[in-house]
Amino acid sequence: MPGTLIVNARLVNEGREVDGDLRVRDGRIAEIGSGLSAAAGEEVVDARGRRLLPGMIDDQVHFREPGLEYKADMAIESAAAVAGGITSFMDMPNTNPPTLDAAALEDKYRRALGRAWGNHGFYMGASNDNLDAIRVIDPLATPGVKVFMGASTGNMLVDDPETLDGIFRETPVPIITHCEDTPTIEANLAAYKAKYGEDIPVECHPDIRSREACIKSTRLALELARRHGTRLHVLHISTADELGLFERGPLVRADGSRKMITAETCIHFLRFDRSDYARLGNFIKCNPAIKDPSDREALIRAVAGDVIDVLATDHAPHTLEEKSRPYAQAPSGLPLVQYALLAALELVHEGRMDAAQVVQKVSHAPAQLFDVAERGFLREGYFADLALVDDAPLTVRREDVLSKCGWSPFEGTTFRSRIAATWVNGRLAWDGSKLVGAPNGQRLRFAR
Ligand code: DOR
Repeated sequence: MPGTLIVNARLVNEGREVDGDLRVRDGRIAEIGSGLSAAAGEEVVDARGRRLLPGMIDDQVHFREPGLEYKADMAIESAAAVAGGITSFMDMPNTNPPTLDAAALEDKYRRALGRAWGNHGFYMGASNDNLDAIRVIDPLATPGVKVFMGASTGNMLVDDPETLDGIFRETPVPIITHCEDTPTIEANLAAYKAKYGEDIPVECHPDIRSREACIKSTRLALELARRHGTRLHVLHISTADELGLFERGPLVRADGSRKMITAETCIHFLRFDRSDYARLGNFIKCNPAIKDPSDREALIRAVAGDVIDVLATDHAPHTLEEKSRPYAQAPSGLPLVQYALLAALELVHEGRMDAAQVVQKVSHAPAQLFDVAERGFLREGYFADLALVDDAPLTVRREDVLSKCGWSPFEGTTFRSRIAATWVNGRLAWDGSKLVGAPNGQRLRFAR
């Protein structure tokens, strides 16, 4: 089948930016070079002045299937994701029913077939009583096991010490954790309820979902992982205080070994801080909470300085009606996939990181960390999952939001870049203004 030749692009890959051409054929990157000439029938895309990135691999999304389709679904959210340059996603298990065994996992892969615009992996969830299912999970069937070491949306808290110990001892795939100490949060919430009754101001969220809750739980996760030699990835780090607990340095060290314990943060912790609650209210209520400007600053430095390994979204949509409730009743989470890469690239415009560092955190690192086969890099032979970025301004308007919930925390924000095109498995999926063709996402394969 004739493919596509992308010429004169600024290729961002493996720490460098170089001008060049990239040929796509049969879903793969067939050739990377300069001065490549078009073969018969090949479509030529002139990418002069634009950056070509390996598509983002988002290791943390909540696409809400099964059971919560009134908030979101795989077809619609994955469309929003490709519009945002995200070509692969890994989806969370706090659905209804939750993903607690191999059958529930396979049900999700079946649902994604022919409907997901991006490549996809589904996490297995942990509970206080599914260790038997976790122990025997096929390492090729899931990127990892998600452990809610703090209660959040859904009912998946794992707080039984013996179970936690067993999970860290016996899980055959990477463990990923939500770390917030629930007893600490409950005590804080009781104190704020005593003070404010049902009218707690949303500005109190970072004091209820406090830094102490994060630190305590993250310490416990690290202790368990060190005790058992577990591969642990701590999700959505939100405080400066936790950063000292992690190893600084590249995910894959010079000797080829890989960090056993890794950290992720999410785009909202780099773009918002406590001062934004006054303007955005429950729209930025999420767990863990967005905290102080000093945390935001420290997190940006930690991403740039290789303390944080992965930058993801934690895309967690809720309806406008739900978010309009008073603080205590409004659910936590915000939709992010459509604008996350653009928000990350603002850090490049601000001179805080270069584009290759962003690509390291959003594409290379998640591929390496979860052993994703043949994706996450611009390499000959790899799948052609690509995002073309144009440095032309884009102002976010509610009517352009593709997510089912129909709102964005970035409404009114002008980004200095836009996604000019996204290819998934070699096929154009987003042309800069609309979706093209049909969903073409594949099940992710893990080279373990
Ligand atoms: O803010 C959040 N929303 N944090 C989570 O841990 C869960 C997520 C959701 O599913 O809504």
